[in-house]
Amino acid sequence: MLAKIGSAAVLGLEAQPVEVEVDVRQSGQAGITTIVGLPDAAVRESTERVRAAIRNSGFSFPGNQRITVNLAPADLRKEGPAYDLAIAIGVLSASGQIPPGSLEGAILMGELSLDGSLRHVRGVLPVADMARRQDIAAMFVPTADAAEAALIPELEVYPVATLGELVVHLQGFVAITPLAPGAQLQPQPPPPAVDFAEIQGQEHAKRALEVVAAGGHNMMMSGPPGAGKTLMARAVPGILPALSLEEALEVTRIYSVSDMLPPDTPLIQQRPFRAPHHTISNAGLVGGGQWPRPGEISLAHRGVLFLDEMPEFNSRVLEVMRQPMEDKAVTISRAQGSLTFPANFMLIAAMNPCPCGYYGDPDRACTCSIGMIQRYRKRISGPLLDRIDIHIEVPRVPYEKLAKATRGESSASIRARIEAARVRQRARFGNNSLACNADMGPAELRQFCTLGNDVQALMRTAMRQMHLSARAYHRVLKVARTIADLEGTEAIQVHHLAEALQYRTRMMDL
Ligand SMILES: Nc1ncnc2c1ncn2[C@@H]1O[C@H](COP(=O)(O)OP(=O)(O)OP(=O)(O)O)[C@@H](O)[C@H]1O
Ligand SMILES: [Mg+2]
Repeated sequence: MLAKIGSAAVLGLEAQPVEVEVDVRQSGQAGITTIVGLPDAAVRESTERVRAAIRNSGFSFPGNQRITVNLAPADLRKEGPAYDLAIAIGVLSASGQIPPGSLEGAILMGELSLDGSLRHVRGVLPVADMARRQDIAAMFVPTADAAEAALIPELEVYPVATLGELVVHLQGFVAITPLAPGAQLQPQPPPPAVDFAEIQGQEHAKRALEVVAAGGHNMMMSGPPGAGKTLMARAVPGILPALSLEEALEVTRIYSVSDMLPPDTPLIQQRPFRAPHHTISNAGLVGGGQWPRPGEISLAHRGVLFLDEMPEFNSRVLEVMRQPMEDKAVTISRAQGSLTFPANFMLIAAMNPCPCGYYGDPDRACTCSIGMIQRYRKRISGPLLDRIDIHIEVPRVPYEKLAKATRGESSASIRARIEAARVRQRARFGNNSLACNADMGPAELRQFCTLGNDVQALMRTAMRQMHLSARAYHRVLKVARTIADLEGTEAIQVHHLAEALQYRTRMMDL
């Protein structure tokens, strides 16, 4: 008998339907199971798990017959153990242990344990999304992944704990109750982070961080050891605006295919904050591998990528971020074609001004030679620096300020201003899918960043004196737009542009 069961493959962030065909017959060599369409090692392992799971669940594995399993289409690359459940149900159906046709229009996913219980699989969210778009009515997934699938509305999601439970459901004895579908954002407290109130002094840097968070811009902090650069970056999650449901689903999809969704968190509701170590590889940063997985720049999508001690990163690795930073997405080419992952992140970078750390410090002499300093700074290329909107110097905080008992403004109150500025931005963009000023392209810049005559005059002078590139010009305009939004004014005024320009001055030249 032949049985056909629906399943799916995940490629990049997208899912595609896979049909699992199982044929069980008397003729030919009995006792041999062939699986067509999976890599060899995966076939062997899956066969073993399916056989054991069926027997240990109290059903019979037709060992005295010939079993052929075909995962179609053949040219689609498939991996992993997520087909176990569909194969097992196919075997039981083709051998007459489940009524035929009971799973029409459904997708099954799940890895089997030898005892028949179902294990978590990655990529359930993109599969559920594909199922809805293809008018598939139901999905059967491991209990651990059911809430994730149920984020997609109009899809019947059945949580399955064991193979036996699903068989009994299909035989019509004990029904599994589907989950109520549809994602809802629960109001979330901001994540635990250093509170801005704990940071003494550094008013200039704190203001710059507020602008960065309000408009989704990039930033570089430069300063001596112990000035508080790492501390301030770690305070940023506490002032980031909340994710919209749409954004939360985007982020969750990336974490789902990366198999990084925390247990009990079907929907990611906090903006990511990623701080990779400087020994990270190319593939680790931008994504890649034999089965391409998202890298840190995609894991930071809609959130922050913090590169602490940026000159310590391999400069060739840093350079691969250049195109993704412009495109807000990364394309990975492979033999079978290319894959795109979103990578719309805010870059926050920190560095010392020189190898010893004290160049430009008023109280402590720098011991580096000019050559050493130049070599150190050259590790971050001009084109990369050009993509950073806001450059600030973070000096050491004098003792008098550190010892003061007064607390600064709290993260909560800064966050409220940032939320208000974001509301203004979204209202301006209308149903354009842009989320913040950093997302503006040339068309939006022309439309939303018109300058009055006096402001234009300042821009003209600055372009000439600061030798700004066209890219820098556009980036300065966006920052000025954000500063005006924080103030709640529609027109960009001279003092908004002046502040934006002042963030553009690079680290002290030698
Ligand atoms: N402005 C500040 N307010 C309160 N505490 C501070 C401040 N600056 C630094 N500190 C204290 O000093 C510690 C070290 O600061 P931090 O690690 O942020 O320095 P850094 O600028 O990253 O230095 P490095 O260049 O060596 O990485 C902090 O954990 C904090 O305890
Ligand atoms: Mg540090």
